[in-house]
Amino acid sequence: MSEVNNPLGLVGIEFTEYATPDADYMDKIFTDFGFSKLKKFKGKDIVHYNQNEIHFLLNNERGGFSAEFAKSHGPAICSMGWRVEDAQKAFDIAVERGAKPATDSANKDLPYPAIYGIGDSLIYFIDVFGDKGSIFENDFEDLEEQNIVEDKGFIRIDHLTNNVYKGTMETWANFYKGVFGFEEVRYFDIKGQKTALLSYALKSPCGTFSIPINEGKDDNNNQIDEYLDEYNGPGVQHLAFLTNDLVGSLDKLDKTNIATLDIVDHYYDTIFDRVPWVAEDKQKIKDHQILVDSQSENCYLLQIFTKNLFGPIFIEMIQRVDDGGFGEGNFQALFESIERDQERRGVI
Ligand SMILES: [Fe+2]
Repeated sequence: MSEVNNPLGLVGIEFTEYATPDADYMDKIFTDFGFSKLKKFKGKDIVHYNQNEIHFLLNNERGGFSAEFAKSHGPAICSMGWRVEDAQKAFDIAVERGAKPATDSANKDLPYPAIYGIGDSLIYFIDVFGDKGSIFENDFEDLEEQNIVEDKGFIRIDHLTNNVYKGTMETWANFYKGVFGFEEVRYFDIKGQKTALLSYALKSPCGTFSIPINEGKDDNNNQIDEYLDEYNGPGVQHLAFLTNDLVGSLDKLDKTNIATLDIVDHYYDTIFDRVPWVAEDKQKIKDHQILVDSQSENCYLLQIFTKNLFGPIFIEMIQRVDDGGFGEGNFQALFESIERDQERRGVI
């Protein structure tokens, strides 16, 4: 086995922080997804939500980094905390390897060492977790009014996808590769009839999450350009929550306002011929409009996408059965499915 290039000692994601002009709306989304509202950062209006290994921070401060971020982007993911063995050391090495330090305390809402990431969001380095304790125990206090809700089976963040300006995908890929030791795992050139995009998937050196990066092709208001306009810059387009039982998670989401993308019925005419080894109830997959994909025999993944949920950002929910892909088979299947429909209607 080749030696893993992990210069910062990265071991996973500790938290994702949200900036928003509408905290009540974000609170409702988190609650709908099964996150319990538990704590707040001592002395600041930064609220901690949790479900299994996923920790969210909702920053409601009126001033500071997150508030400024919300002013320029609307609802957004303004920072993440990444687990490392030694936070100060990781920060020093990251800066040495070319990352831009966020040293001005006015530009940070949290006291952990941080560098600038995509779209000038922050990446904090966190070294208190597991056997060493927890920042949520040390630096946060229980809310007087907690809201503990039923878990909906979401275990951790599987991947988070970035949208960037045309011609900058390589630069951003090199940032993740050069500073952190991410590795390229997939390269896609996805063509619709009118629009196209390039996507480049990177896996973290710890193997616990991935960062796909998208850029649009041509000037035709493709979905990436539309995002960049609305968000006012590059940033996180979607987060994917991993579940071991997507049907069960969706059953629990049924009574909420979370809306998922509609899939044409014809999708299900062929998908189970393509992936016959799906173990789940096929009718339930169809009822929930779940997408199915497979890289090889007896491996598959199930996935579903919400409609845009906050600003131009959406959530994916994914279940993996020995499949490390991103559902690339669905791009083409969806496209072909739409074309068959167009043919049926005599449009093409
Ligand atoms: Fe995804």
